[in-house]
Amino acid sequence: MPGYSEEQLQQLVKTSHEVKKMAHCPYSKFPVGAALLTDDGSVFTGCNVENASSGLTICAERTAIVKAVSEGHRRFKAIAVASDVKEIVIAPCGACRQVLVEFGVDCDVIMTKPDMTYKIMTTKELLPCCFGPTDLQRERAA
Ligand code: THU
Repeated sequence: MPGYSEEQLQQLVKTSHEVKKMAHCPYSKFPVGAALLTDDGSVFTGCNVENASSGLTICAERTAIVKAVSEGHRRFKAIAVASDVKEIVIAPCGACRQVLVEFGVDCDVIMTKPDMTYKIMTTKELLPCCFGPTDLQRERAA
């Protein structure tokens, strides 16, 4: 049982698709939206923000995470991700998976399609055997 309701899940999926319209993606023309649910029920949205210096592009998931953290939220229950791709659900990139595990390995990642169908995997399923905050606390040689 996830720690959120069916209604919250449907709302996250819908919101992730709505926020795609805010994407700044003149280079890829590939809008992405994200809606992040925190443990107190707040929802933070994000879109991809591209840059003429391509390496500086920020994905929708990281936009949402940074917005939440900068407002004092660090415990996440779920994040919905949306694109316009019809055939398959959109999966977060490797960088976003790493940023997600910084805040917990049990967050549900709701990967959606424009028809509002989705597939859910946890952050640890998406990034097994990961390096995270606890590794920095382990005993080290010398
Ligand atoms: N993008 C995201 O925002 N999230 C993902 O999970 C995959 C890719 C963005 C980055 C870039 O603006 C565009 O999609 C094409 O790669």
